[in-house]
Amino acid sequence: MLLKQGEQVSINFTNNLNESTTMHGHGMHLPAIMDGGPHQLIASNQTWSAQYTVNQKACTNWYHPHEMGKTAQQVYQGLAGLIIIEDNESQALSLPNNYGVDDIPLVIQDRIFDSSGQFVYAPSNQQIMWGYRGDVFITNGQVSPTFTAQKGLLRLRLLNGSNAGVYRFSFADNRQFTQIASDNSFLSQPVALNTVLLSPGERAEIIVDLSNDVNQSINFNVLEEVDQRTATILTINVNNTQAATTSLPTTLTTLATVDPSLATNLRSFTLEGMGNMGSPQFTINNQAMDMNVINESIILNQLEIWEITNTMNMPHNFHIHATHFQLIDRNGAALQVADNEKGYKDTVFIPAGETVRILVKMTDYADSNGKYMYHCHFLEHEDAGMMGQFVVTNI
Ligand code: C2O
Ligand code: CU
Ligand code: CU
Repeated sequence: MLLKQGEQVSINFTNNLNESTTMHGHGMHLPAIMDGGPHQLIASNQTWSAQYTVNQKACTNWYHPHEMGKTAQQVYQGLAGLIIIEDNESQALSLPNNYGVDDIPLVIQDRIFDSSGQFVYAPSNQQIMWGYRGDVFITNGQVSPTFTAQKGLLRLRLLNGSNAGVYRFSFADNRQFTQIASDNSFLSQPVALNTVLLSPGERAEIIVDLSNDVNQSINFNVLEEVDQRTATILTINVNNTQAATTSLPTTLTTLATVDPSLATNLRSFTLEGMGNMGSPQFTINNQAMDMNVINESIILNQLEIWEITNTMNMPHNFHIHATHFQLIDRNGAALQVADNEKGYKDTVFIPAGETVRILVKMTDYADSNGKYMYHCHFLEHEDAGMMGQFVVTNI
């Protein structure tokens, strides 16, 4: 769906499943009761309405179910879609923005198909532990689709919508492309790259220049880094029609520059897990998600540093609802924050053994009863306990 900054929306989700669900706006800055988290259950055959004023910068967000213990299964079975937010700034920039022509959403996921061509969500304990990943990649629900593009600039809005895949995207000829946006905003300037890495839930908007590719086919590929599988996720055929955009602005937006030393509170989060023989259990600070426990209470407008440590020998990531954050450093080194991670983000990748520090501030929607989530977005981990709840309070 397409939303505009400042617009008042009322979005009805009708649950036609014969089980309950919820519908969360991932990346949306909104009141907790409109968040669609585990507390906003939609019973079978009921409609739930998300009503709010769009209150954030242009970006590419998404929606997906979030019921306790059922997120992984329901996302895997297909419940996910994009929310594109525009604002005056994004509409004034000279960027490809003709949806379906030079502005293309790509939701990438992986699946395991059985011999009858169905995909069933049936992870073993081992697959819950390491994340459920398939050997077939789907792009907007299709295997290896083809797209005919005009010559000029093409914008791709990438979402890693997988349960647990860590995706590195690149073009088959290794050409350079440009990242213009991260999860929750444009980058301040375009960043040139040859590959871009997205862990589950992360987004990137990229621009590829097809000016010199008339009558050629260009493959856009993914490498899933945990299992080291590769696939072509889109074949782009370039025709001779001139695209509307041929060059990029040098400045995209202005982002807040906040000095981390001004933070007045530090919270530490340690990501842990146990496998043993039984079903895996994941924790944050030694606590598995409990619907009845508020793990953190955060004061409105207090600038905080969140230090997140992955103690395990597997990758995780960390997602916070309702807000965006900025990275401070990785393993203590600000230089390890790549230029394309310097925009506003809501999900950060944390490789095995790494510590990430981020700057967090809750700027709106104080409500001591309104519960928001933070969690690992590898959905098997989230469902197996690697999630916590916070409220935003006035004092
Ligand atoms: Cu994408 Cu808590 O969610
Ligand atoms: Cu979310
Ligand atoms: Cu995880």
